[in-house]
Amino acid sequence: MKHLSVAPSPMNVPTRISETGARRIRKGEVLAAANRIGIVAEGPGESRVAATPNTVPKLIALGYDVVVESGAGAASSFPDAAYVRAGATVIRGTGAWSSPVVLKVNPPTPGEIDRLADGATIVAMLSPGLRPELVEALATRGITAIALDAVPRISRAQSMDVLSSMANIAGYRAVVEAAHEFGRFFTGQVTAAGKVPPAKVLIAGAGVAGLAAIGAASSLGAIVRATDPRPEVADQVRSIGGEYLEVVVPDEQKQVSSDGYAKATSEAYDRRAAEIYSEQAAEVDIIITTALIPGRPAPRLITAADVASMKPGSVIVDMAAGQGGNVAGSVPGERVVTDNGVVILGYTDLPGRLPQQASQLFATNLANLVKLLTPGKDGQLVLDFDDVVQRTVTVVRDGAVTWPPPPVQVSAAPAVTATDAAPQGAAAGSATGAVAGRRPLSAGTRAGLIVAGIAGLFAVCAFAPPPLPQHFLVLTLAVVVGFYVIGHVAHALHTPLMSVTNAISGIIVVGAMVQITLPDLTVQVLAAVAVLLASINIFGGFAVTRRMLAMFQKGETR
Ligand code: NAI
Repeated sequence: MKHLSVAPSPMNVPTRISETGARRIRKGEVLAAANRIGIVAEGPGESRVAATPNTVPKLIALGYDVVVESGAGAASSFPDAAYVRAGATVIRGTGAWSSPVVLKVNPPTPGEIDRLADGATIVAMLSPGLRPELVEALATRGITAIALDAVPRISRAQSMDVLSSMANIAGYRAVVEAAHEFGRFFTGQVTAAGKVPPAKVLIAGAGVAGLAAIGAASSLGAIVRATDPRPEVADQVRSIGGEYLEVVVPDEQKQVSSDGYAKATSEAYDRRAAEIYSEQAAEVDIIITTALIPGRPAPRLITAADVASMKPGSVIVDMAAGQGGNVAGSVPGERVVTDNGVVILGYTDLPGRLPQQASQLFATNLANLVKLLTPGKDGQLVLDFDDVVQRTVTVVRDGAVTWPPPPVQVSAAPAVTATDAAPQGAAAGSATGAVAGRRPLSAGTRAGLIVAGIAGLFAVCAFAPPPLPQHFLVLTLAVVVGFYVIGHVAHALHTPLMSVTNAISGIIVVGAMVQITLPDLTVQVLAAVAVLLASINIFGGFAVTRRMLAMFQKGETR
């Protein structure tokens, strides 16, 4: 653990903007700098802001004074007066830049880097992998730089993941932009004037943006189809109203994601996917592409021939236009109309087109990160490199480049099946191989076990005193039926299933309490054990439910 240098630094003389509810600043007074956070205005073309009147109190609760550059929130409809009411100090000019901690949306320009105070910390989206020159420039200033866009995709860091928040908004907005360009309804209708068919929408890539787009398009009533090389997304696509178009490839070429992101696709996959895109392009009205493999240029999915085969009036939104484009002919930031009347949108500012919402989510993610970095709630930023999130987001520390961080492994992949695991375990020759690669029983062993089970059942039925045989038969049948029923319940339904098992446990408790009064010690012991185990299940269920609900409660950072 290391305290970052947050030594007081000179700053411009602040000017009071509003007195309503704010701490007053007299002309000439210099703000206490040791725990000051500066929220600076973004450059032209960016409508988002790094803190909102909702998140300012969260930063103040962490022990910081918050200084906001006048007009920083204007494009997101957050006036200066709202920041003042929230407890921030609004100052004109570039004074916020000299704060020990500066929060921003986009990477700083060279001129802005010069404005940073010595030993300051800047937190912004820095794209360190794509911009080595920026990392170098930040390091030369001897400051600490934290890249918001480097937050790893692990459950614990979800509340700080700006890329996911922004992609979610962008996916939704992509559908709104497409609907705006499209000359028809998304939903089908039967009217007195005739039948209106629903629009057909194809979403390529079902990550965060893709899933948001699928949800938005299907809620507008369109027929939605989606592709993605990660088979684990199929259930998610279906659960929000889409149809998953599987690109069938041999098993060994299927993807298993270990970090929440896709890996490069195989040639066989690309070939088959290209055929699907060509078939779909001729049929669908709207295509939204979101395919991304981190660290690589966007894969080209829709060819010029595919675009040419689309009907006039069709719309394509290439969300990856800024990374090289998934679609032939898309231009970053532009609206292009092809010769055959297809509109291709290459907008790269989709989250900024919903500025208030985007700022709110961005600023909340940022406040959650600051909370993680301020364990003492005392306005002191502390970096703990033993914590994977803090290590991963730190690009420069006190002038030393710490990028790239060690890779982070997460369990985004579906559980490895016994058959999948067997060869891996064998190949590794490791101790874990024995566990992971548990071999299925041979046909002979299985038959032997079944015969032994049936013989045991007969023995119990033949020799046990009544009413034990009947009860035993019911128990055996319940175990067999339960095994098959529960084993085939989809993962998504496990929570409701848990409620049902709670109800069953309740019945067991009642039954056991009736039995416990019988004058037989064995029955009494068994009944007591049944009450104990069933109660553990019931109260454990409540405890788990409580924890799950807590995850959705406001203001919690896990
Ligand atoms: P993500 O990583 O969550 O999703 C990308 C998806 O593409 C993954 O599910 C991956 O499996 C899939 N994919 C990879 N290769 C593919 C292929 N060959 N065919 C089909 N699918 C493939 O990324 P996220 O956050 O959803 O972002 C998606 C894209 O949207 C990125 O390019 C991102 O930069 C862009 N974006 C654009 C914005 C804009 O304003 N235009 C705003 C936010 C994000």
